[in-house]
Amino acid sequence: MIDDFSFLEKNQKRIEKALNKALPAKDFSNITEAIHYSVLDGGKRIRPQLIYLVADSLNLNLKDETIDAMAASGELIHCYSLIHDDLPAMDNDDLRRGKPSCHIKFGEASAILAGDAIQPLALEIITDIDDPNLSAKTKIKIISIFSKACGPFGMVEGQNRDIKSENIDISLEELDKIHILKTGKLISACVHATCLLKEDLPENDLKAFIKFAECIGLAFQIKDDILDCTSSTEDLGKPANSDENLKKNTYPKLIGLEESNSRADSLCNEAIQCLKSLPYNTEKLIKLSKFIVERTH
Ligand code: IPE
Ligand code: IPE
Ligand code: MG
Ligand code: MG
Ligand code: MG
Repeated sequence: MIDDFSFLEKNQKRIEKALNKALPAKDFSNITEAIHYSVLDGGKRIRPQLIYLVADSLNLNLKDETIDAMAASGELIHCYSLIHDDLPAMDNDDLRRGKPSCHIKFGEASAILAGDAIQPLALEIITDIDDPNLSAKTKIKIISIFSKACGPFGMVEGQNRDIKSENIDISLEELDKIHILKTGKLISACVHATCLLKEDLPENDLKAFIKFAECIGLAFQIKDDILDCTSSTEDLGKPANSDENLKKNTYPKLIGLEESNSRADSLCNEAIQCLKSLPYNTEKLIKLSKFIVERTH
């Protein structure tokens, strides 16, 4: 039987709507125009998918709008990171999601400001949730998790180490740390924050969900490294071989393609084992996990 992935498309439409609702009016300024350009109609929306699917599996007694806000929040933090990641001072990439990068289209200052704007917007969206079944205390915890994931000990430090280790040799252990920080932390935060929506979730279940997210988050970045040197600019919608041109440390560079693929596969299997250990229907999350390591873009 062919696997049914139609739920991914359904969620894709859902997040598009949620993001449209969350964004400031496009015609307010050049910055809001840049925000719409970089956030809407693009990307695989993996972080929102994780949020929707974890929420589904937990069978939450909350408004759909609450889950939409969470999904939009996770995706906005990610979109900010992509806008800044492409800047000349960072990866200097001129293509993103099949279109000229934000700074190419709107200029560097506007791209910096567009990224700056959507980061707090992501947190503001959480503060604005109006749901009788979501306590203020839980909202604060969710905001704290997202803030920590993208802050100085999270994504920012991952990006810092990624840039600082260009042109130098580092160990696989150090590379793991970079990948966990720059990509894994936000992915874990999306899953962790969604788990908090179920206030009586047993501690062991929370641990299994977080372990799942850590495994799939690292697998995700390993696959990103692999695709950088095996896929085309056209398929990726971003410049192929960007890592090699910048002399980045990547999985394929450190351990070769074959080993990189098998590491991604074994992390994916570990993630799936965590999901299977849980007393919820995690079938769709298992499918998403497989998609993450089997994707071609
Ligand atoms: C790219 O992320 C940057 C990384 C953290 C690896 P995605 O591959 O999720 O990018 P989009 O959102 O689909 O464009
Ligand atoms: C980016 O990693 C991670 C973040 C944006 C935090 P990459 O630099 O590998 O992402 P791509 O390949 O440009 O999408
Ligand atoms: Mg980068
Ligand atoms: Mg990059
Ligand atoms: Mg990359």
